Amino acid sequence: MALKLRLPAIADETEAMAGHYQMLADPFMDFLLDYRPGEPFAAWVERVNGVSLGWHCPDPWLPGEFLFIETDGVVVGRVWLRHSLDAQMAEYEGHLGFVVLPGFRRRGYASQALAMSLARLHKMGIEIAVVTCDSSNEASIALVEGAGATFERMAVSPAMTRRRYLLTTWA
Ligand SMILES: CC(C)(COP(=O)(O)OP(=O)(O)OC[C@H]1O[C@@H](n2cnc3c(N)ncnc32)[C@H](O)[C@@H]1OP(=O)(O)O)[C@@H](O)C(=O)NCCC(=O)NCCS
Repeated sequence: MALKLRLPAIADETEAMAGHYQMLADPFMDFLLDYRPGEPFAAWVERVNGVSLGWHCPDPWLPGEFLFIETDGVVVGRVWLRHSLDAQMAEYEGHLGFVVLPGFRRRGYASQALAMSLARLHKMGIEIAVVTCDSSNEASIALVEGAGATFERMAVSPAMTRRRYLLTTWA
């Protein structure tokens, strides 16, 4: 079945929370961005979908879309597409953040979701997407380089060292 990107829904609670707790040990990425421990899942859905639909943009969000990656009726990951970046995000985070849950990796889901995400960014008027990878994140580096990204330079701060890549958003 085809992979799709879609907004989270309240009915996703069980699998989304399971994915979130599974990813807490991951050094690179949270699953449910800005999920506050103990908060009702429905409250998180309302907050995050409000950002994606352009209704509000509370801290720490920037304008963008948070979408689940679904295939065959199962949530296998998520993407966070940022439509505009402040200076810190432009330097260290870029336009895209991906997670594919551990049980679903190496099936091409991130590659497909990346291609779909670039098309969405293109529709938002972004022609060149910045993607950054922690310099120790081999999977992320391989994914981005496999998608044809051009290495631009390192972004270095006292807290992190990231590889910055540029990807054209048109096929
Ligand atoms: C990075 C991540 C999103 C990749 O998801 P995925 O669905 O497994 O990626 P794909 O199956 O589309 O892999 C595409 C290519 O990336 C490379 N790749 C993916 N995982 C890899 C790994 N662990 N080691 C080396 N190369 C890897 C391979 O070249 C792969 O192609 P192949 O399987 O045909 O060899 C996933 O590992 C993840 O969620 N990691 C934790 C969160 C994270 O680091 N996100 C940062 C992304 S910018």
